[in-house]
Amino acid sequence: MKSAIFLDRDGTLIDDRGYLSRIEDAVFYEETVPALLRLHAQFELFIVTNQAGIGLKKITAEDAARVNGHVVETLSRAGIGVREVYVCPHTRDDGCECHKPKTLFLRNAARDYGVSLDRSFVIGDHPADVYLAKGSGATGIYVLSGHGASHRADLKDRFEIATGIGEAIEKVLVLHAARVLREGGLVGVPTETVYGLGANAEDRAAVRKIFAVKGRPADHPLIVHLADAAAMSRWAAVVPAEAVLLAEKFWPGALTMIVKKSALVPDEVTGGQDTVGLRVPSHPTARALIAALGEGAGVAAPSANKFGKVSPTEARHVLADLGAEVDFVLDGGACAVGIESTIIDLASAAAPVILRPGGVSQEAIEAVLGRAVPIRGQSTVRAPGLLPSHYAPDAAVRIAEATELDAIAAAERARGLRVEVVRAENPEDLAHDLYRALREADARGAELILVERPKDQGIGRAVLDRLEKAAAAKPQ
Ligand code: TXA
Ligand code: MG
Repeated sequence: MKSAIFLDRDGTLIDDRGYLSRIEDAVFYEETVPALLRLHAQFELFIVTNQAGIGLKKITAEDAARVNGHVVETLSRAGIGVREVYVCPHTRDDGCECHKPKTLFLRNAARDYGVSLDRSFVIGDHPADVYLAKGSGATGIYVLSGHGASHRADLKDRFEIATGIGEAIEKVLVLHAARVLREGGLVGVPTETVYGLGANAEDRAAVRKIFAVKGRPADHPLIVHLADAAAMSRWAAVVPAEAVLLAEKFWPGALTMIVKKSALVPDEVTGGQDTVGLRVPSHPTARALIAALGEGAGVAAPSANKFGKVSPTEARHVLADLGAEVDFVLDGGACAVGIESTIIDLASAAAPVILRPGGVSQEAIEAVLGRAVPIRGQSTVRAPGLLPSHYAPDAAVRIAEATELDAIAAAERARGLRVEVVRAENPEDLAHDLYRALREADARGAELILVERPKDQGIGRAVLDRLEKAAAAKPQ
């Protein structure tokens, strides 16, 4: 069943400036377009507006239609499709069936477009908007823009409250994604490292779907993402003292800890091993989603790419790679870190071992634990990040010193190769940009991608690790 968002116009999408008759007076809030773009057309969009000014003869029906047309066209030019604009021209006392909070228009949308109202949302700055939601079984979100702040006292029931359309859409995305997870679906989840392909970690069937969609072997375990460190005791059989230290210092953040699993963790998540990888991501939307799923909940998620391919760092990457196979993609913007978390094994060997360098550096971990923590020691656990085919674009990748990049590029181009060069000011920027740059180079048909060699320290070590695997995957 389709989900819809019913948007109020004045005070929600555009400034409330009284009865509008001229398109110049329709002034969009700055956050309107960016917020609606986060939906990626995964909802049916409607505008529902009371235009009592028509009934009061302050404006004509044509005036209102002109302004509505302009609003729809402006959104359409930005890539946001509005299915229909529902206008009530009556005054509150006319006794019509369409004046909000009366539900005629929503029932029409359900009938005409197959929209399921109990999976839908109404966003508006007037109590009539959220009571419209309440009356039709949808979720109402009251915004404090427009008249919202001054009419707030008229709300006699509990509603979701947002400062404006930006926060309201964030709530829609999180509530909808949590519902999809609860129903056993898969969600593209933003984190600060890379996007994950998430399922409710307690739902075995949903977790099995992750493996099917990724094309990943069943014995390659998934990381369970938690909303906070307190949830760790639900998912771990024992929480080692060093895990507590590391959690205090690096959570929420780009560190995954392997610990002995509790009985709660399904075998599907761990590939049958007795350990589980746990991480509290720092991306606020990811944490809001996990919290919305339930107290102590876990979201099992590998990176949201096909097995062996480059991890996604933007929502559109997930849509491009897995679009039809994922039930919903939650756009949380570009990932701040840009490469995967550091994985530390605290369960399998006598001493901690880093299985995969990542967003938290070896040096920082060693400083907290007060001892050397080797990368990939004699750990016996399986980590497919170790397979050489990981993180590879279609083009060949070669690592080169910054000073040699241009000369090598020129020489390879002279040989007739399509060459792209990736460089950055510092290792953090390189981590942030790398996967997007690899994808874009592929999309332009590059045959060779030359990447500046980062220093083998801090996050540079993690970037180098990914580059070496990409370079090994397809030697040229
Ligand atoms: O930053 C990240 O870690 C991202 C985001 C989404 O959180 N996730 C990620 O997941 O990169 P994935 O599945 O692509 O890589 C996780 C790695 C795999 O190599 C997996 O084998 C390893 O973690 N892993 C997970 N649980 C493990 C366990 N119990 N023992 C050993 N390795 C484990
Ligand atoms: Mg309004």
